[in-house]
Amino acid sequence: MSVDAATRTDATRADRRRDVARVYDRIARGYDLVEAPMDLLGGKRRRERVIGRAAGNTLEVGIGTGRNVGLYATGVALTGIDISERMLRRGRMRARQQSRRVRLALADVERLPFPNATFDSVTATCVFCSVPDPVAGLREVARVCKPGGTVLLLEHVRPRNRLLGKVSDRLSPLTRRLFGPEINRRTEDNVVAAGLAVRDVRRRGIWREITAQP
Ligand SMILES: C[S@@+](CC[C@H](N)C(=O)[O-])C[C@H]1O[C@@H](n2cnc3c(N)ncnc32)[C@H](O)[C@@H]1O
Repeated sequence: MSVDAATRTDATRADRRRDVARVYDRIARGYDLVEAPMDLLGGKRRRERVIGRAAGNTLEVGIGTGRNVGLYATGVALTGIDISERMLRRGRMRARQQSRRVRLALADVERLPFPNATFDSVTATCVFCSVPDPVAGLREVARVCKPGGTVLLLEHVRPRNRLLGKVSDRLSPLTRRLFGPEINRRTEDNVVAAGLAVRDVRRRGIWREITAQP
């Protein structure tokens, strides 16, 4: 690739990251309210199952408004990162309300500011639908997770049904612009493409609870 092309690609990625951060900054205030019905429809149980398995020194990427903070076991030492300043501000408030010590930082999952093999667990819920380059982000997750550590993901993916899959392909640019997430991501494939070893996947409709290891 020429230097010009590489620079252009970097610029495009930076633009896309800025767009994502802007969308989440815009919706941060109403985010918890909009998501509350999803929790009632089984979302909370899914989060509990995934987050409850984190142990030790743990990183949550795309921690957002901190909806998972209260679900971690008490022994977990939690660090959270997010690309949206306003989502993170709400996350900080929630951690304080719940008297949980959480180290929070504004950071991009595609360039994590941590040394290799730092964390025992890395978690994410509903994040890799909006990360501009999910495979790059998952590679970073693999890098900062210790060998023998665990990557725990809860993600919605492209529907397997052919018609619904095509509908989600059509609607995805719109959902990305309005609310942040793409609804046609193939996250199971992306996890493998990032070099993670998949240990377990629980599949329910469009939902995937993925356990993987570097
Ligand atoms: C749908 S929200 C989910 C928030 C939280 N994980 C939850 O389950 O409620 C997606 C979050 O991922 C964050 N995000 C998107 N792209 C990111 C990136 N490249 N690096 C870090 N965070 C990112 C967004 O800012 C947002 O807070």
